[in-house]
Amino acid sequence: MITLLISLILLCLCSLIAVSGYFLLSLSKYGGPPAGSPDGAVSVHVLVLGDIGRSPRMTYHALSIAKHGGNVNLIGYLETSPHPDVVNSANITITPLPTPPRRPPSIPFILFAPCKVLYQVYHLTRLLARTLPPAQWILVQNPPTIPTLAIASLICCLRNTRLIIDWHNYGWTILAGTRGPNHPLVALAKLYECRFGRLGDLHLTVTHAMARQLRSPPYSITQPMLAVHDRPASIFQPLTSPSTRKEILARVLPAPETDLIPSIMEGTTRLLVSSTSWTPDEDFSLLLDALVEYATTTTTTTSTPTPLLAIITGKGPQKALYLSKINQLTKEGRLPNVRIATTFLPFADYAALLACADLGVCLHMSSSGVDLPMKVVDMFGAGLPVAAYAGYESFGELVREGENGRGFETAGELAGILGRLLGGGDAGRGELERLRRGAVEEGRRRWDEEWDGKVGMVMGLVS
Ligand SMILES: *[C@@H]1O[C@H](CO)[C@@H](O)[C@H](O)[C@H]1NC(C)=O
Repeated sequence: MITLLISLILLCLCSLIAVSGYFLLSLSKYGGPPAGSPDGAVSVHVLVLGDIGRSPRMTYHALSIAKHGGNVNLIGYLETSPHPDVVNSANITITPLPTPPRRPPSIPFILFAPCKVLYQVYHLTRLLARTLPPAQWILVQNPPTIPTLAIASLICCLRNTRLIIDWHNYGWTILAGTRGPNHPLVALAKLYECRFGRLGDLHLTVTHAMARQLRSPPYSITQPMLAVHDRPASIFQPLTSPSTRKEILARVLPAPETDLIPSIMEGTTRLLVSSTSWTPDEDFSLLLDALVEYATTTTTTTSTPTPLLAIITGKGPQKALYLSKINQLTKEGRLPNVRIATTFLPFADYAALLACADLGVCLHMSSSGVDLPMKVVDMFGAGLPVAAYAGYESFGELVREGENGRGFETAGELAGILGRLLGGGDAGRGELERLRRGAVEEGRRRWDEEWDGKVGMVMGLVS
């Protein structure tokens, strides 16, 4: 009886493998642009295993390819609305992937993860092997790494498609951050990422430091590699006049803080902006401790530092915890002259607020040490100088000390920067003004010039 059952199961498995093998090997291959399309139209599947609307870099890749006449299938989850230019572009087709079910709290991660991966494998393979025709290129975002890298490289191999891997970070370092470095899946994820990472025909990275790492063990990638730095979207622009600043402040400041607008305009209250995801990988207590120190420090030139309004934007799990801490500190009188307000703004209002602020603060701590925070890129686009956490290798590729911002690693160092730049001294004002010019300069460099000269050339879209 048992032998019969086992043979039956084996028979089923074998026929499954045979059928899927036959199906995969009989896939149509890419053999040049289809008849009827404009001469030489390049076709690209742009793939991200995430929400398209919250994948700005893949959105910009898709828009750039489309702008130069390429045909794009933008593949990912449809959770928030994608960029309007993507929706309106005649050259981009959005191809949604079904969102996998969320893990119910009662099921352990180690049991749920494989099921979720199987679900994703099925839908990804079906889409790339059956629904869509073969493309000349697949451009895939990494991470998420599992199962995208494996599926994308398999499909590329079977369909004569060339694979571009766009490295934003490493999947295994993010997993190590959330599950702990000794979790068994972390070692597996690392092995997988290193193996399949080598199968790209071209690699794009967000920093030079990441490209250097990918060339060396354990990744040991040998194919061509280009560092393509993130650039601010066109919605981030410096202010053009003081009257616009006043209008914007009236619109975007949370209601209880609008009484500060006249003094912000005069410069007798300084405006600091930080955005955070309120997660443990961004230590918000650094900023909170620095603000307490700023508020209670007197310097040789001033008896009390200039009043400060700190606007913190973003949503996330630890927000309530920190709100109660802020309330308590305020009640205890440890934040004199400092007001902290939290808010969540629509994208356009957030961009406008950045342009109105005196200083941006970024607490991003890199899990890989070689990525860069998009929010600093956006702050520069809005002409806003930054104070940013500096304890990782690629920091200097974006923030240049004393040119467009200042780096810190401890709350004390951040308090020192705040005191000097915002506290009231004339030297600090001069320095802040210089940093602002540097930020505007850095923000002038936009995505198109970065992309066209690198990716556009390699893909044959730009000559
Ligand atoms: C679409 O491609 C054509 C060339 O095939 C190009 O002229 C046009 O500007 C592109 N449109 C968009 C919205 O990118």
